[in-house]
Amino acid sequence: MEDKKEKWWKNAVVYQIYPKSFQDSNGDGIGDIRGIIRRLDYLADLGIDAVWISPMYCSPQNDNGYDISDYQDIDPMFGTLEDMDELIAEAGKRKIRIIMDLVLNHTSNEHRWFQEAKKSRENPYHDYYVWRDGEEGVYPNDMKAAFGGPAWEWVPEVKQYYFHQFAPEQPDLNWENPKVRREIYDMILWWMDRGVGGFRLDVIDQIAKEPDLGITNNGPKLHEFLRELSRETFQKGDLITVGEAWGATPEIAEKYSCPDGSEFSMVFQFEHIGLDQQEGKEKWDLAPLSLVKLKKCLAKWQNALHKKGWNSLFWDNHDLPRIVSRWGDDSTYRAESAKMLAAVLHGMQGTPYIYQGEELGMTNVKFKDITDYRDLETVNMYHERLQAGYPLEDVMHSIYAKSRDNARTPMQWSREENAGFTTGIPWIAVNPNYTEINAASETEDPDSVYQFYKKLVHLRKEYPVFADGDFSLLMPEDEQIFAYTRTDAECRMLVCANFTGEPVRCPLSEEWKDAQMLIHNYPGERLDEELKPYEAAILLKME
Ligand code: GLC
Ligand code: CA
Repeated sequence: MEDKKEKWWKNAVVYQIYPKSFQDSNGDGIGDIRGIIRRLDYLADLGIDAVWISPMYCSPQNDNGYDISDYQDIDPMFGTLEDMDELIAEAGKRKIRIIMDLVLNHTSNEHRWFQEAKKSRENPYHDYYVWRDGEEGVYPNDMKAAFGGPAWEWVPEVKQYYFHQFAPEQPDLNWENPKVRREIYDMILWWMDRGVGGFRLDVIDQIAKEPDLGITNNGPKLHEFLRELSRETFQKGDLITVGEAWGATPEIAEKYSCPDGSEFSMVFQFEHIGLDQQEGKEKWDLAPLSLVKLKKCLAKWQNALHKKGWNSLFWDNHDLPRIVSRWGDDSTYRAESAKMLAAVLHGMQGTPYIYQGEELGMTNVKFKDITDYRDLETVNMYHERLQAGYPLEDVMHSIYAKSRDNARTPMQWSREENAGFTTGIPWIAVNPNYTEINAASETEDPDSVYQFYKKLVHLRKEYPVFADGDFSLLMPEDEQIFAYTRTDAECRMLVCANFTGEPVRCPLSEEWKDAQMLIHNYPGERLDEELKPYEAAILLKME
């Protein structure tokens, strides 16, 4: 049953901050909470409603904070709990809610629970993690960890292996243990009390793992766990919740985002993200891009969840390359293609997410040497593949296309040294193109990518058809144009985009010639018969 009360997050736009790379305030080269507070006016100007911040809890930073050693404290590198309270309050004054990142599948191996758990099999915390008997050197099975190597690590003190789906420093929590679940719920309630406005749930579809069956995602008890989690925590507030679910299909996403609120508000699904890789291989193994596949994939998600669930809309995050460097053109038509991609995404039904710097059209980076990379996934892959005999050039090519560090170079604020990110030495180098691409110049320039994003954010608030209209894909087999309509009781909206760097004939201009132009990435109030390179427009007709 559809909830009577409209959910605020259905009209919201969320901005993602990767705190390490957003704004440094004390010159140590690492972004921090006081830096975020300093930039709240910039975010308010963009018009966003909520900010999702990647983890800032205490962490040894093996995986940049996705390895938590204390869920109820802030890492000194980012500030203090008081800074966090101030951030929540200051954001609140600007009507911006703060979304925390919850990593519930695993902790850091430095978490107190794990330190206890590995002492003995009788320790009360032992059963907080996933252990299997075995002999040193003989793994319980051949499961592999996402960041390379086996998914099992031997602990001599207990003569057992523990299970880790990510790095060995990220032991998996045992969700079968009710004590673990209770600890987690209490911790979430504690954050809710501090005024947090929502949560993003890291690799949440992997919590119900069954290592003996080789199951990682979508384990049999997943939705039972999620419903309990939601009932014990999120449903006690008015939150936005979004799960990260690499293994979601539209059918599964319908459960996660059911309008009765029994699980989450929505999930991140990644089907459209994987379209640039060879099927069944790793993300590093690139495949040629097909616009037809992209359109059909996004259209399928739009239609499947219409009125039955809710989509999140995103191109970028801290794990993904910059969209303008993947599906756009990050040189000649950088600004045009960045705007085009924004229009196509923001015209759809769902809650849009903007990843820091995306609103400036920030691009991938090409560091010369592997020593400039910081991401453990990238560095591990580099060594594994060189050892396996891949040519260096191919390995670097994959890194330039897909490394997570493409998204993690510092936010480009200005033309000042280090892009205005820090007065010290940045923890990861700044993309040298900051002299051209930066917030200071884009907030001044009325034609910038930034202004285009800002306008899209406002259009969503002004026209309900963005949130409620039905979706219909036009010209599904066309290899150059992405066009669709959104229709509600009052109006019909057309989103029309040339996905290529060539001019193309557009058969839609006649039918839409009298429509109102809502936004356009070239000058002109009409849709011409020929679309210019990466041209995109959103038009509206009253019915
Ligand atoms: C998610 C995060 C990623 C992290 C992984 C393990 O995929 O987005 O950054 O490395 O989970 O926590
Ligand atoms: Ca700092």
